[in-house]
Amino acid sequence: MTDEPIPAPAAADPNRVLIFDTTLRDGEQSPGATMTHEEKLEIAQLLDEMGVDIIEAGFPIASEGDFEAVKAIAERAREAVICGLARANPTDIDRCWEAVRHARRPRIHTFIGTSPLHRDITRLTQDAMVERIHATVSHARDLCDNVQWSPMDATRTERDFLCRVVAAAISAGATTINIPDTVGYTAPRESADLIAMLRREVPGAEEVVFATHCHNDLGMATANALAAVEAGARQIECTINGLGERAGNTALEEVVMALKVRHDIMPYTTGIDTRRIMQASRLVSAVSGFPVQYNKAVVGKNAFAHESGIHQDGMLKNAETFEIMRPEDIGLTATNLVMGKHSGRAALRAKLKELGYELADNQLADAFVRFKALADRKKEVYDEDLVALMQDSTAGAHQDLVVLKHLRVICGTESPQTAEMTLALDGVEQATTATGDGPVDATFAAVKALVPHEVRLELYQVHAVTEGTDAQATVSVRLDSGGRIFTGQSADTDTVVASAKAYLVALNKVLAFERAGRPATDITAAVS
Ligand code: KIV
Ligand code: ZN
Repeated sequence: MTDEPIPAPAAADPNRVLIFDTTLRDGEQSPGATMTHEEKLEIAQLLDEMGVDIIEAGFPIASEGDFEAVKAIAERAREAVICGLARANPTDIDRCWEAVRHARRPRIHTFIGTSPLHRDITRLTQDAMVERIHATVSHARDLCDNVQWSPMDATRTERDFLCRVVAAAISAGATTINIPDTVGYTAPRESADLIAMLRREVPGAEEVVFATHCHNDLGMATANALAAVEAGARQIECTINGLGERAGNTALEEVVMALKVRHDIMPYTTGIDTRRIMQASRLVSAVSGFPVQYNKAVVGKNAFAHESGIHQDGMLKNAETFEIMRPEDIGLTATNLVMGKHSGRAALRAKLKELGYELADNQLADAFVRFKALADRKKEVYDEDLVALMQDSTAGAHQDLVVLKHLRVICGTESPQTAEMTLALDGVEQATTATGDGPVDATFAAVKALVPHEVRLELYQVHAVTEGTDAQATVSVRLDSGGRIFTGQSADTDTVVASAKAYLVALNKVLAFERAGRPATDITAAVS
């Protein structure tokens, strides 16, 4: 590790597209996707390993927790540029630099809303805004030689003013100019025209990388990003599973696979190891508690499923009949070999590796114990069961304040049902008995009795992981705590146990958030 930051290598190939992942910043901003410190580190490590060029690790001024996460990610990153977000004021920018400067390749990303609606909020005239941009980008450049600047709501900003602000940022030293479609309003042709116009009209445009940052409100985020690339953008901002505010951001897996599969008409390359895509998708889904829609492009459960007779017949003769990409290319295993209670540790290690989980010996030992417990309850353990098992360890492996020790629920045709529960609270075991209208209600009442807390249960959802009466259930829970959403997910062959564990995953996030005293920072708020 050197003291001097190492600049990101300049892409020698003019058709190389940089992948900028903002799952940990824009993705985490989506209501309910709050992630713990350890979860952020795990995601960042995977993004780095899979070849993401720039990781936007967070918004350091937002809270002490955000700052610490960005700093820890910066310290651990190997190849990726680590970027933090900052509003257009020196305090934000200094705080951002404090967090990212530990990276081998740091970047400051500063932004301001430039459309008329945003200028109304900040009460800046056009001239004052241009001045502000020049001053803040110069300040960022004094700290860091890799500075990205974004005019938020660019696609609804007057074109001549957009040229003025982009020119100001370039003249102040910005190295990447990102053009956000903040509200998912643009369409592919307009997205391309905008990038082409800026590259043509703005002095100094040839010196910087243009980036595209699209939201998916009208379902066009992927198309808009690809159109921008065709017009000369060379950085795509995206998130795993398209996570992000409202309808989300451009999905990393979609743009990367589109560029790979249709290289014939879009001759651009990325540095992504596409075989890690499924692993990233599963991890982000487990951590955020946002299930992936079954028919989601590339990573949905049905993306490679062929149910109808005609399709199955064609697939058996030649897989290319109905498949434009190979499942292995995104890290899906070709086989779904069944494991059982006689399967050994080596077989489990091999199977998990195939599924994208490379475990250290102590992690494997822990996974093996849990696998055996599952195999005792369930005759056949499928790939999906193992993924659920691994996701469960992700959810519960951290220093949780509240841990489930024992649960017994007495059910019958007559209400109420009774739950006997023991929890370890900061390491101290406490037990209670509570009743409720059904086993899940009784279980949640027992948690409330042991850990008094004020939350509203926003969502409670159960999915069967595989088929059969011994199938595991994955339960997703969303809790609203003072207007902030926290999610939890867990799997077990017993639906009530999965429910209790999922509730506790979410509750632990609430408690950790409260302990860290994280105030919400409004990214649209005033610039100074
Ligand atoms: O959507 C947006 O405008 C953003 C900016 C902060 C880049 O996320
Ligand atoms: Zn955004």
